[in-house]
Amino acid sequence: MINIAIFASGNGSNFQSIVDAYKNNKLLVRKIILVANKENINAIKIANQNKIKNYTFILKNYSSKVSYEEEILKVLEEEKIKYIFLAGYMMLISSVLLERYRNRIFNIHPSLLPSFKGKNAIEETLSYGTYLSGFTIHHVNQDVDSGKIIFQKQVRVYKNDTPEKLQFRIQKQEHKYYWKVINKIIRGDEE
Ligand code: GRF
Repeated sequence: MINIAIFASGNGSNFQSIVDAYKNNKLLVRKIILVANKENINAIKIANQNKIKNYTFILKNYSSKVSYEEEILKVLEEEKIKYIFLAGYMMLISSVLLERYRNRIFNIHPSLLPSFKGKNAIEETLSYGTYLSGFTIHHVNQDVDSGKIIFQKQVRVYKNDTPEKLQFRIQKQEHKYYWKVINKIIRGDEE
């Protein structure tokens, strides 16, 4: 059995759904840790409530992004982490982690990539007027939301949608599927 790290910057609803699967013995991992890049975020509260080990790294406390990621890497190695799953982690992963965790870092993004990359995906989906949205789970590389796609799920967009309504329906699907895709990745049959 392997260990995984979830990286988060905020609310942590995806993290919660992964923790729920773990607690229900549905996740094929021995241990989960949380890596946060902000203090006092909801994801940390969820981790503490569920006795999940968590670490916070604040970029401005380091002289560079390289030294920031080197500190994270030390923890990942100490904790024997095999895969990293980003769940609302609002920072680009750079060379230190990308090289050490080559092909073992994944992200979930609230659009059908390659459409609507970046942090305003839901607002852009609505202003463009597409009929279909959804989410994508993909490999992480040096560019924003650009790595190879491994899973997508469609969500209908309705005429009276607001960003909140659409986000709610997308996240409902994210919570249903992210942990299942994590299991597929761990089993090596994600493609
Ligand atoms: C998710 O919708 C995910 O697609 C995006 O950020 C959001 C994070 O939400 N990358 P949460 O923190 O898991 O609630």
